[in-house]
Amino acid sequence: MSRTNFGAKTWMFPMPALVIATYNEDGTVNAMTAAWGGICQETPAGIMIDLADSHKTTANIERTGAFTVAIATADTVVPTDFFGIVSGNNDPKKFEKSGLRARKSEFVDAPVIEEYKMVLECKLFEKFAIKEDVRVVGEIVNVSVDDSVLTDGKIDAAKLQPLAWNPISHEYVKLGESVGLAWNVGKALMNK
Ligand SMILES: Cc1cc2nc3c(=O)[nH]c(=O)nc-3n(C[C@H](O)[C@H](O)[C@H](O)COP(=O)(O)O)c2cc1C
Repeated sequence: MSRTNFGAKTWMFPMPALVIATYNEDGTVNAMTAAWGGICQETPAGIMIDLADSHKTTANIERTGAFTVAIATADTVVPTDFFGIVSGNNDPKKFEKSGLRARKSEFVDAPVIEEYKMVLECKLFEKFAIKEDVRVVGEIVNVSVDDSVLTDGKIDAAKLQPLAWNPISHEYVKLGESVGLAWNVGKALMNK
């Protein structure tokens, strides 16, 4: 058996493909892609996102105290990538160019982009400035899901087709098949 050392890298599997949506000063919508994010606390339900200080999104969150986090899916891969290439600081028509539609969240001062079928609606809970980044913790006050991806009232990942992001090849990939139920398959080793 041999192993290769790649050194210090910001690599993980899986990494998410998220879209953070916020309101600009004039009430128009902005959206950006984020892979550096994840659930970070249970009470209140919380998600942390690492944002560069320079992003339009960061300034918007600091001003409105709110943002939404959409789970990118196979059918939204093109706008998802676009939101990570262009900055709202340089192109005020960034969201308009995506051709997507948004409506105001019922719960927070941030847009829900309709084409994303699963969206976490967040209030700014905490932020930490670290070097040129801001780590924002959002309190998840609601998760809204398009009924088309529900089966018997539950979110069906096979219908949702959520994406992960591969930090090495830089590809968006569809999540694969189930290989076991958590807190369950491990029981096979309990009585050894
Ligand atoms: C796959 C992918 C993942 C990204 N992840 C992050 C991230 O986690 N944090 C971040 O600050 N920027 C990330 N970016 C870069 C921003 O999405 C990008 O700079 C964007 O233009 C910022 O938009 P804004 O200035 O309109 O907010 C990512 C871009 C891509 C394509």
